[in-house]
Amino acid sequence: MSDKKPWVDGPFKLIPASISGDEIGNRAKGARKMAVEMSIIHNVIIRGVNAIYLQCINVGERGTEKDKIDFANFAARWSELVHEHHHAEEESFFPGINKLTETPGLMDGNIAEHEQFNAGLEEFERYIAAVADGKEAYDGQKIKDLIDSFMPVLNNHLASEIETLLQLTKWDDKIPWEKWFEEEIGAKAKASMAQQRYRTNGKGKTKNTDALNPQTHIFPTAFILHDKTYENGIWSAFPPLPWIASVLLRLLFVRVNAHWWRFAGCDGSSTPKELPFA
Ligand SMILES: [Fe+2]
Repeated sequence: MSDKKPWVDGPFKLIPASISGDEIGNRAKGARKMAVEMSIIHNVIIRGVNAIYLQCINVGERGTEKDKIDFANFAARWSELVHEHHHAEEESFFPGINKLTETPGLMDGNIAEHEQFNAGLEEFERYIAAVADGKEAYDGQKIKDLIDSFMPVLNNHLASEIETLLQLTKWDDKIPWEKWFEEEIGAKAKASMAQQRYRTNGKGKTKNTDALNPQTHIFPTAFILHDKTYENGIWSAFPPLPWIASVLLRLLFVRVNAHWWRFAGCDGSSTPKELPFA
Protein backbone atom coordinates (compact mmCIF):
# COMPACT_ATOMS: atom_id res chain seq x y z
CA MET A 1 0.00 0.00 0.00
CA SER A 2 1.24 3.48 -0.89
CA ASP A 3 2.44 5.70 1.94
CA LYS A 4 1.48 8.82 -0.03
CA LYS A 5 -2.22 8.17 -0.30
CA PRO A 6 -4.47 8.71 2.71
CA TRP A 7 -6.11 5.56 4.03
CA VAL A 8 -9.07 4.52 6.18
CA ASP A 9 -7.15 4.83 9.47
CA GLY A 10 -8.00 8.54 9.34
CA PRO A 11 -9.10 11.30 9.51
CA PHE A 12 -11.64 10.03 12.07
CA LYS A 13 -9.77 8.19 14.81
CA LEU A 14 -9.92 4.44 15.27
CA ILE A 15 -10.28 2.88 18.71
CA PRO A 16 -7.05 1.27 19.97
CA ALA A 17 -6.95 -2.06 21.80
CA SER A 18 -5.17 -0.36 24.71
CA ILE A 19 -8.45 1.30 25.85
CA SER A 20 -9.82 -2.14 26.80
CA GLY A 21 -6.45 -3.43 27.99
CA ASP A 22 -6.46 -6.12 25.31
CA GLU A 23 -3.02 -7.50 24.40
CA ILE A 24 -1.71 -10.34 22.26
CA GLY A 25 -0.82 -12.96 24.85
CA ASN A 26 -2.98 -11.33 27.52
CA ARG A 27 -6.49 -11.22 26.16
CA ALA A 28 -9.28 -9.20 27.69
CA LYS A 29 -11.98 -11.10 29.55
CA GLY A 30 -15.47 -10.43 30.92
CA ALA A 31 -16.79 -6.92 30.32
CA ARG A 32 -13.39 -5.97 28.85
CA LYS A 33 -13.84 -8.62 26.19
CA MET A 34 -17.28 -7.17 25.42
CA ALA A 35 -15.67 -3.73 25.11
CA VAL A 36 -13.16 -5.26 22.67
CA GLU A 37 -15.92 -6.75 20.53
CA MET A 38 -17.66 -3.39 20.47
CA SER A 39 -14.39 -1.61 19.60
CA ILE A 40 -13.95 -3.90 16.59
CA ILE A 41 -17.47 -3.07 15.37
CA HIS A 42 -16.96 0.64 15.99
CA ASN A 43 -13.72 0.55 14.01
CA VAL A 44 -15.63 -1.05 11.13
CA ILE A 45 -17.95 1.97 11.25
CA ILE A 46 -15.03 4.44 11.45
CA ARG A 47 -13.11 2.87 8.54
CA GLY A 48 -16.29 3.04 6.50
CA VAL A 49 -16.86 6.73 7.00
CA ASN A 50 -13.17 7.46 6.44
CA ALA A 51 -13.39 5.71 3.06
CA ILE A 52 -16.42 7.81 2.13
CA TYR A 53 -14.90 11.06 3.43
CA LEU A 54 -11.54 10.58 1.67
CA GLN A 55 -13.02 9.70 -1.73
CA CYS A 56 -16.32 11.55 -2.10
CA ILE A 57 -14.84 14.65 -3.80
CA ASN A 58 -12.64 12.69 -6.24
CA VAL A 59 -15.45 10.32 -7.19
CA GLY A 60 -17.43 13.42 -8.17
CA GLU A 61 -14.52 14.88 -10.16
CA ARG A 62 -12.95 11.80 -11.75
CA GLY A 63 -15.61 9.11 -11.53
CA THR A 64 -17.95 7.86 -14.23
CA GLU A 65 -21.71 7.85 -13.68
CA LYS A 66 -21.42 4.19 -12.67
CA ASP A 67 -18.67 5.03 -10.16
CA LYS A 68 -20.93 7.65 -8.58
CA ILE A 69 -23.89 5.29 -8.26
CA ASP A 70 -21.69 2.48 -6.92
CA PHE A 71 -20.03 4.84 -4.44
CA ALA A 72 -23.42 6.17 -3.28
CA ASN A 73 -24.51 2.57 -2.74
CA PHE A 74 -21.35 1.90 -0.73
CA ALA A 75 -22.06 4.98 1.40
CA ALA A 76 -25.75 4.06 1.73
CA ARG A 77 -24.85 0.60 3.01
CA TRP A 78 -22.54 2.23 5.55
CA SER A 79 -25.29 4.50 6.87
CA GLU A 80 -27.66 1.53 7.10
CA LEU A 81 -25.03 -0.35 9.07
CA VAL A 82 -24.70 2.51 11.56
CA HIS A 83 -28.47 2.88 11.77
CA GLU A 84 -28.88 -0.85 12.40
CA HIS A 85 -26.11 -0.86 15.01
CA HIS A 86 -27.64 1.94 17.06
CA HIS A 87 -31.12 0.52 16.70
CA ALA A 88 -29.96 -2.85 18.07
CA GLU A 89 -28.21 -1.13 20.97
CA GLU A 90 -31.27 0.91 21.91
CA GLU A 91 -33.76 -1.94 21.47
CA SER A 92 -31.84 -4.81 22.97
CA PHE A 93 -28.22 -4.37 24.03
CA PHE A 94 -28.48 -1.40 26.41
CA PRO A 95 -31.80 -2.49 28.01
CA GLY A 96 -30.24 -5.95 28.44
CA ILE A 97 -27.31 -4.45 30.36
CA ASN A 98 -29.66 -2.34 32.51
CA LYS A 99 -31.62 -5.47 33.37
CA LEU A 100 -28.64 -7.73 34.06
CA THR A 101 -27.02 -5.19 36.36
CA GLU A 102 -30.41 -4.33 37.92
CA THR A 103 -29.51 -0.70 37.38
CA PRO A 104 -32.31 1.09 35.50
CA GLY A 105 -31.00 3.84 33.23
CA LEU A 106 -27.36 2.71 33.49
CA MET A 107 -26.82 2.91 29.72
CA ASP A 108 -29.15 5.87 29.09
CA GLY A 109 -26.21 8.24 28.59
CA ASN A 110 -25.33 6.33 25.43
CA ILE A 111 -28.84 6.73 24.05
CA ALA A 112 -28.73 10.46 24.82
CA GLU A 113 -25.49 10.62 22.81
CA HIS A 114 -27.19 8.91 19.87
CA GLU A 115 -29.67 11.77 19.82
CA GLN A 116 -26.87 14.29 19.37
CA PHE A 117 -25.90 12.98 15.93
CA ASN A 118 -29.10 11.30 14.73
CA ALA A 119 -30.47 14.28 12.78
CA GLY A 120 -27.26 14.78 10.78
CA LEU A 121 -26.89 11.07 10.16
CA GLU A 122 -30.48 10.78 8.99
CA GLU A 123 -30.00 13.65 6.56
CA PHE A 124 -26.89 11.89 5.22
CA GLU A 125 -28.83 8.63 4.93
CA ARG A 126 -31.70 10.32 3.09
CA TYR A 127 -29.42 12.14 0.63
CA ILE A 128 -27.13 9.22 -0.15
CA ALA A 129 -30.08 6.84 -0.67
CA ALA A 130 -31.60 9.35 -3.12
CA VAL A 131 -28.29 9.53 -5.04
CA ALA A 132 -27.98 5.73 -5.06
CA ASP A 133 -31.52 5.53 -6.47
CA GLY A 134 -30.68 8.12 -9.15
CA LYS A 135 -33.20 10.58 -7.69
CA GLU A 136 -30.67 13.27 -6.73
CA ALA A 137 -27.46 14.43 -8.39
CA TYR A 138 -24.10 13.36 -6.95
CA ASP A 139 -22.40 16.19 -5.05
CA GLY A 140 -19.12 15.20 -3.39
CA GLN A 141 -18.85 18.42 -1.40
CA LYS A 142 -22.34 17.91 -0.03
CA ILE A 143 -21.43 14.39 1.12
CA LYS A 144 -18.33 15.76 2.86
CA ASP A 145 -20.27 18.61 4.51
CA LEU A 146 -22.95 16.22 5.74
CA ILE A 147 -20.30 13.96 7.30
CA ASP A 148 -18.71 17.02 8.94
CA SER A 149 -22.10 17.85 10.46
CA PHE A 150 -22.34 14.66 12.54
CA MET A 151 -19.09 12.73 12.45
CA PRO A 152 -17.06 14.56 15.12
CA VAL A 153 -19.88 13.87 17.61
CA LEU A 154 -20.34 10.30 16.39
CA ASN A 155 -16.59 9.68 16.58
CA ASN A 156 -16.54 10.82 20.22
CA HIS A 157 -19.57 8.70 20.99
CA LEU A 158 -18.01 5.56 19.49
CA ALA A 159 -15.03 6.00 21.80
CA SER A 160 -16.97 7.01 24.91
CA GLU A 161 -19.35 4.05 24.62
CA ILE A 162 -16.33 1.77 25.07
CA GLU A 163 -15.56 3.56 28.35
CA THR A 164 -19.11 2.93 29.58
CA LEU A 165 -18.76 -0.78 28.78
CA LEU A 166 -15.50 -0.93 30.72
CA GLN A 167 -17.35 0.27 33.81
CA LEU A 168 -19.23 -3.02 33.72
CA THR A 169 -16.14 -4.88 34.91
CA LYS A 170 -17.44 -4.34 38.45
CA TRP A 171 -20.12 -6.95 37.67
CA ASP A 172 -17.60 -9.40 36.16
CA ASP A 173 -17.90 -11.87 39.04
CA LYS A 174 -21.70 -11.92 38.82
CA ILE A 175 -22.53 -11.62 35.12
CA PRO A 176 -21.13 -13.84 32.34
CA TRP A 177 -20.70 -10.92 29.92
CA GLU A 178 -18.87 -12.81 27.19
CA LYS A 179 -21.51 -15.53 26.96
CA TRP A 180 -24.33 -13.02 27.07
CA PHE A 181 -22.80 -10.82 24.36
CA GLU A 182 -22.19 -13.84 22.14
CA GLU A 183 -25.87 -14.74 22.49
CA GLU A 184 -26.92 -11.16 21.74
CA ILE A 185 -24.85 -11.11 18.54
CA GLY A 186 -25.95 -14.65 17.69
CA ALA A 187 -29.63 -13.70 17.99
CA LYS A 188 -29.08 -10.70 15.71
CA ALA A 189 -27.25 -12.79 13.11
CA LYS A 190 -29.98 -15.44 13.23
CA ALA A 191 -32.72 -12.84 12.75
CA SER A 192 -30.80 -11.43 9.81
CA MET A 193 -30.27 -14.86 8.25
CA ALA A 194 -33.99 -15.56 8.64
CA GLN A 195 -34.63 -12.74 6.21
CA GLN A 196 -32.65 -14.42 3.47
CA ARG A 197 -34.45 -14.69 0.20
CA TYR A 198 -33.12 -17.37 -2.09
CA ARG A 199 -34.74 -18.80 -5.15
CA THR A 200 -33.50 -21.36 -7.57
CA ASN A 201 -32.35 -20.05 -10.92
CA GLY A 202 -33.93 -22.93 -12.79
CA LYS A 203 -30.65 -24.82 -13.17
CA GLY A 204 -30.75 -26.47 -9.79
CA LYS A 205 -28.46 -23.84 -8.27
CA THR A 206 -29.37 -21.28 -5.68
CA LYS A 207 -29.16 -17.69 -6.71
CA ASN A 208 -29.44 -14.55 -4.68
CA THR A 209 -32.25 -12.62 -6.28
CA ASP A 210 -32.42 -9.67 -3.94
CA ALA A 211 -29.44 -7.32 -4.12
CA LEU A 212 -30.56 -5.55 -0.96
CA ASN A 213 -30.90 -8.48 1.37
CA PRO A 214 -28.92 -8.29 4.64
CA GLN A 215 -26.43 -10.94 3.60
CA THR A 216 -25.30 -9.05 0.56
CA HIS A 217 -25.70 -5.44 1.67
CA ILE A 218 -24.86 -5.30 5.39
CA PHE A 219 -22.99 -8.49 6.21
CA PRO A 220 -20.05 -7.90 3.78
CA THR A 221 -19.10 -4.73 5.65
CA ALA A 222 -17.78 -7.00 8.45
CA PHE A 223 -15.11 -8.16 5.99
CA ILE A 224 -14.31 -5.11 3.86
CA LEU A 225 -14.34 -2.53 6.67
CA HIS A 226 -12.32 -4.70 9.03
CA ASP A 227 -8.51 -4.61 8.88
CA LYS A 228 -7.03 -7.90 10.05
CA THR A 229 -3.55 -6.32 10.23
CA TYR A 230 -4.67 -3.58 12.68
CA GLU A 231 -2.27 -3.20 15.64
CA ASN A 232 -0.10 -6.18 14.65
CA GLY A 233 -3.15 -8.31 13.95
CA ILE A 234 -4.50 -8.23 17.49
CA TRP A 235 -8.07 -8.53 16.19
CA SER A 236 -7.37 -10.69 13.13
CA ALA A 237 -9.89 -13.35 14.22
CA PHE A 238 -12.91 -11.35 13.14
CA PRO A 239 -15.60 -12.12 12.24
CA PRO A 240 -15.38 -15.08 14.64
CA LEU A 241 -15.99 -17.80 12.07
CA PRO A 242 -14.17 -20.97 11.06
CA TRP A 243 -11.87 -20.39 8.07
CA ILE A 244 -13.99 -22.45 5.70
CA ALA A 245 -17.17 -20.57 6.69
CA SER A 246 -15.43 -17.26 5.96
CA VAL A 247 -14.45 -18.49 2.50
CA LEU A 248 -17.98 -19.66 1.75
CA LEU A 249 -19.56 -16.45 3.02
CA ARG A 250 -17.19 -14.38 0.89
CA LEU A 251 -18.09 -16.41 -2.17
CA LEU A 252 -21.81 -16.32 -1.46
CA PHE A 253 -22.33 -12.83 -0.13
CA VAL A 254 -19.33 -10.51 -0.53
CA ARG A 255 -18.82 -11.15 -4.24
CA VAL A 256 -22.40 -10.22 -5.19
CA ASN A 257 -21.92 -6.47 -4.79
CA ALA A 258 -18.16 -6.27 -5.28
CA HIS A 259 -18.70 -3.11 -7.39
CA TRP A 260 -19.79 -1.31 -4.18
CA TRP A 261 -17.10 -2.75 -1.92
CA ARG A 262 -14.20 -1.65 -4.18
CA PHE A 263 -14.27 1.73 -2.38
CA ALA A 264 -13.43 0.15 0.98
CA GLY A 265 -9.97 0.13 2.56
CA CYS A 266 -9.79 -3.68 2.68
CA ASP A 267 -10.75 -6.53 0.40
CA GLY A 268 -13.09 -9.45 1.10
CA SER A 269 -10.43 -11.10 3.26
CA SER A 270 -9.97 -7.93 5.40
CA THR A 271 -6.55 -7.30 3.85
CA PRO A 272 -5.67 -3.61 3.39
CA LYS A 273 -5.73 -2.19 -0.13
CA GLU A 274 -5.42 1.27 -1.65
CA LEU A 275 -8.47 3.47 -1.92
CA PRO A 276 -9.15 3.87 -5.67
CA PHE A 277 -10.26 7.51 -5.41
CA ALA A 278 -8.16 8.86 -2.50
FE1 LIG B 1 -21.89 0.61 19.73
